[in-house]
Amino acid sequence: MKNLLFIGLGRMGFPMAGHLAKNKDFSVSVYNRTSSKTERWLKQYSGTAHNENNQYDTVILCVGNDDDVRKNLALNGQFVSCLKSGGVVIDHTTTSAELAKEMSTLLTQRGGAYLDAPVSGGEAGAINGKLSCMVGGDKTAFERSANIFNAYCHNVVHIGDSGSGQISKMANQLCIAGVLAGLSEAICLVEKAGVDAEKVYQAIRGGAAQSWQLDNRFQTMVAGEFDFGFAIEHMIKDLNYALAETQRQGWTPPVADKVLNDYRQLLVEGKSGQDTSVLVEKYR
Ligand SMILES: NC(=O)c1ccc[n+]([C@@H]2O[C@H](COP(=O)([O-])OP(=O)(O)OC[C@H]3O[C@@H](n4cnc5c(N)ncnc54)[C@H](OP(=O)(O)O)[C@@H]3O)[C@@H](O)[C@H]2O)c1
Repeated sequence: MKNLLFIGLGRMGFPMAGHLAKNKDFSVSVYNRTSSKTERWLKQYSGTAHNENNQYDTVILCVGNDDDVRKNLALNGQFVSCLKSGGVVIDHTTTSAELAKEMSTLLTQRGGAYLDAPVSGGEAGAINGKLSCMVGGDKTAFERSANIFNAYCHNVVHIGDSGSGQISKMANQLCIAGVLAGLSEAICLVEKAGVDAEKVYQAIRGGAAQSWQLDNRFQTMVAGEFDFGFAIEHMIKDLNYALAETQRQGWTPPVADKVLNDYRQLLVEGKSGQDTSVLVEKYR
């Protein structure tokens, strides 16, 4: 039986750790900075609270950003000493690719391995165990961890070296930014023309404009509903990481750059916590 520690019981981590707890091959311990979430998780699933004397085969994280990962894993971090020699860290946090390389070097020096493994599929994907996961880092460590990924993912791809999982997630976020900008413009066009938006959706959903965002967000954007989990603060963070990466490459992606500024303004206008499809409000 593998001893696992899951750190970060947020919107994503809470159900992901829950899927692991249902697998008899794992003994799952959990840690959350705010202890009330740990208590809530322990009431719902079978597992134990993290104890500093525990030794883990794998430490899994799903926290906020680069600094949060550093605080938990860096040299003075409280969890690295709990990782068995040769153990694996799987980081589902969306971070910079630089952070992934930094953590990989650190873990390798200590005889372990670090996999950058950001996910896509939102809170619903985490609850249903249907996330997509893009993984960078040591391939053997990845293969040894297959049953962990399979607990909550329906699509897992090892991309390449450390950081390549995060580069893939940046590509994912650039796609989403572009699709949401297009959907927002389309909805504004339809509304200003006084045309029935529902009929437009029924007409175009099976054609070349089809996408996950069209299928799942067009109608809710028209209805003005924006509480679907992936908050604009996370998208601002993710696009900042992507634009820092393209800056290193010597260019700026024009659509993502514009959408990032739109989200920053929406935050100033009080849209904190609302999901990324709230972009349409900026264009309205
Ligand atoms: N939500 C989505 O739809 C979605 C989809 C794909 C990827 N992601 C990515 O997945 C990650 C988590 O997202 P989420 O929506 O689950 O976020 P969330 O609900 O805000 O949860 C964040 C979790 O990280 C913990 N945390 C933050 N900073 C920490 C620190 N310094 N030390 C220890 N714990 C810390 C929080 O603890 P507290 O409870 O104490 O605050 C909380 O458990 C993010 O990187 C996000 O970009 C999210």
